[in-house]
Amino acid sequence: MSSDDGLPAELAAIVDDANVLTDPDLRSRYETDWTGRYHGEARVVVRPANTSEVSAVVRACAHFGVAIVAQGGNTGLVGGGVPRNREVVVSTTRLNRCDAVDIAASQVTVGAGLTLAQVRDHSRASGLDLAVDFAARDSATIGGAAATNAGGSRVIRFGTMRAQVAGIEAVLANGEIVGSLAGLPKATVGLHLPSLLSGSEGTLAIITAVRLRLVPWYRHTATALVGLPSLGDAVELLAKLRRALPHLDSVELLMPSAMTLVCEFLGHPCPVDAASGAFVLIECAGDSDPMDELINALSEHAPDSGTAIATDETSRANLIALRDNVTVAINHIGVPLKLDVAIPLAELAQSTREIEGIIARLAPTARLINFGHLAEGNLHVNTLFAGDAAGAITDEVLQLVIERGGVISAEHGIGVAKSHWLVVQRGAAEVEALRSIKQALDPSNVLNPGVLLP
Ligand code: MLT
Ligand code: ZN
Repeated sequence: MSSDDGLPAELAAIVDDANVLTDPDLRSRYETDWTGRYHGEARVVVRPANTSEVSAVVRACAHFGVAIVAQGGNTGLVGGGVPRNREVVVSTTRLNRCDAVDIAASQVTVGAGLTLAQVRDHSRASGLDLAVDFAARDSATIGGAAATNAGGSRVIRFGTMRAQVAGIEAVLANGEIVGSLAGLPKATVGLHLPSLLSGSEGTLAIITAVRLRLVPWYRHTATALVGLPSLGDAVELLAKLRRALPHLDSVELLMPSAMTLVCEFLGHPCPVDAASGAFVLIECAGDSDPMDELINALSEHAPDSGTAIATDETSRANLIALRDNVTVAINHIGVPLKLDVAIPLAELAQSTREIEGIIARLAPTARLINFGHLAEGNLHVNTLFAGDAAGAITDEVLQLVIERGGVISAEHGIGVAKSHWLVVQRGAAEVEALRSIKQALDPSNVLNPGVLLP
């Protein structure tokens, strides 16, 4: 059909008028990403309330030949969840199914639109916990986290989002509903749909519900911030802590640029020697208090380092706030160029120095803020005021990361930001194979066109 004038009315017949947003003011918050870097106009924003409505919406869009961008909490950082070319934005935030926690299976089934914080709280009410956690927990949705294979701070213990998805329900480009929410841990019945869709960034199907694996809710935590002379020392400490701390839950990194910025932003003094070359935030969690374990390990393995140990919930919250607020503090100053990379730990310190060198050379007036998830070698290279050098910085940094055996996206996804880099990372044969999968599931390229695959 050539004209799509009838599309809003058809969508309103599926989800009701209030959930079909055509007014530019109402659409606007769905059209710009969280960073303010990516923006496009949506033909219409539609907010289905259940899987059948998503299916009907997808069929209607197919009928009118209109492409779709699925969007969760709009906390993505690579432009994968906002429109680019007058697509229909399908907001998943009303997919709020929330089943009772299955304690025997240690699983729960939830709609794609629940936030991470909602699922965490729901699970904790039954004594269990969501394994994945990151700063955007109050807005980021389970569907978005699965679609991007999000990671966050607890990957060292529980893996990324892909490892939590025991079952999935999704709507294909033709409107068919597929998947299973049974979540049986053993099922050898062919290709594993949850694995295929985790990290597919809305290009193969729209995730509508997820069966999540839950982990024990550890009520006792011990948290410390350690200032070390260099990033190399931080990596050495990590190796020792892995052995010494059976309850290790997260090992997060702030380089001095990030610590200075976030302390300025929060108005807090740096809790350890501000002249340190790297700051590591360590958390242990267990059924009994892991504080002695952490204190003993630090006095044995980091005896000369400045250490701040949380003694109560307030001091713990203050330490965690330092790491959680870096992204917000950056955006408070400007719109950064964000590169989310992971580098093998043996190469991390040297590569980080080289990245600093690249940015100093290409954009001498830029402000580089490096931080991330030390345990996975996951460095968030954020450059403010990169100006015209943004493209050259991206090219040189990503090239270096690939040469060092790293990955050009560790947890944010490829989105539109890095799609032309995918072939450099994965090689032509593999990208062709991925393209064949896309072609098979979405032959008309209506699901998130331009994202992931160039
Ligand atoms: C974080 O870990 O805080 C975010 O993934 C990083 C970012 O904003 O670049
Ligand atoms: Zn991160």
